[in-house]
Amino acid sequence: MGAAADHFIGLMSGTSLDGVDGVLCRFEGDQPQVVAHVALPFTQGLKQTLLDLNTPGTNELHRAALAANALARTYVAVVARLLGEGGLPAWRVLAIGAHGQTVRHQPGLHDGTGYTLQLNNPALLAEHTGIDVVADFRSRDIAAGGQGAPLVPAFHARVFGQSEQTVSVLNLGGISNLTVIPPRPPAQTQRAGEVRGFDCGPGNALMDHWCQQHTGQAFDRGGAWAAQGEVHTGLLQALLNEPFLDQPPPKSTGRDLFNPDWLAQRLAAWPGLRAADVQATLTEFTALACANALKLHGQGSRQLLVCGGGALNDELMRRLRAQLPDLSVRSTAAAGLPPLQVEAVAFAWLARQAVLRQTGSLPSVTGAEGARILGALYPAGDPPIRL
Ligand SMILES: Nc1ncnc2c1ncn2[C@@H]1O[C@H](COP(=O)(O)OP(=O)(O)O)[C@@H](O)[C@H]1O
Ligand SMILES: [Mg+2]
Repeated sequence: MGAAADHFIGLMSGTSLDGVDGVLCRFEGDQPQVVAHVALPFTQGLKQTLLDLNTPGTNELHRAALAANALARTYVAVVARLLGEGGLPAWRVLAIGAHGQTVRHQPGLHDGTGYTLQLNNPALLAEHTGIDVVADFRSRDIAAGGQGAPLVPAFHARVFGQSEQTVSVLNLGGISNLTVIPPRPPAQTQRAGEVRGFDCGPGNALMDHWCQQHTGQAFDRGGAWAAQGEVHTGLLQALLNEPFLDQPPPKSTGRDLFNPDWLAQRLAAWPGLRAADVQATLTEFTALACANALKLHGQGSRQLLVCGGGALNDELMRRLRAQLPDLSVRSTAAAGLPPLQVEAVAFAWLARQAVLRQTGSLPSVTGAEGARILGALYPAGDPPIRL
């Protein structure tokens, strides 16, 4: 029997703006087998360009189009490396799921004003890889009245769900999101409870910003700098007063809300704080926002699996465990998927759902009218450029 086109590629570049995580994988049922993982950091120039596009500015349509081209070329480089590391030709890949770079996320109300914008050039990606590309996953859910985010809970539920107990999954990217997965009943006749999911608030975005500004480092490796500081209770309380944290789900957020201006407004009341103390406070704030969300909506979870780059921040994980003493808090690596691969595999899975004409969204999570097939297909065409 000859080899088949049975692999998928997922490309995720999240709100942290650290770069692209790409995976090449196959699925046995819904279970992923990762063949290769490539993390390619953005150049400082592209990172700054994308960061600038998160706020209104002159001639931004032109700048956005150029940034989308640059991002797509970075995606092409990741795909080439994935195929090289996996030892596979491009034709073995059925589709690439390419998330794009979110620069605005304003899901709005059920009044037709909502939109979400991920910069991308899927046509360029299809042209230069010779592989079908699925892109723009979020818009359809917003069109159906949903938040368009988070989209990973459906995948989390298939991969991390258990039959005996409720499991929660926390993704600590630039923004954090939580998935609560009720037990899967053993008998087909019994209905499973509904999977819940929502954005908790900031993940690494504020900590990264402060760290970059005061140490010149893109992020606080291992949380070592935060570990040298002390939490300032006044600032912590001011941060926790953010109304988004108390909003009931469905809800989603982004850099539109949690950005340097938001932080500066709250810091204004405490001039002269030690920078390391602010970092410690931001770390505690992130841990608390997530832990409080879990206490409120976790439906008795005893297990928390953590993914995203924040899972590698030991100080953040320590503070999270301190807030959740009754739970087992572990990295998703303990459940078979390293934390930096989870979202990329989720977008490979979403591309597969689109190719199979199956829904990828969960209305119980996003609040949409119903589950939808997500994404737009950019066929590779013939003859494609071969990598
Ligand atoms: N070793 C580490 N120690 C502390 N934080 C880390 C480490 N590695 C990654 N991170 C954090 O994770 C972020 C990237 O996480 P990621 O899951 O890629 O988020 P996003 O999906 O928003 O891009 C980095 O910006 C950094 O804040
Ligand atoms: Mg990232």
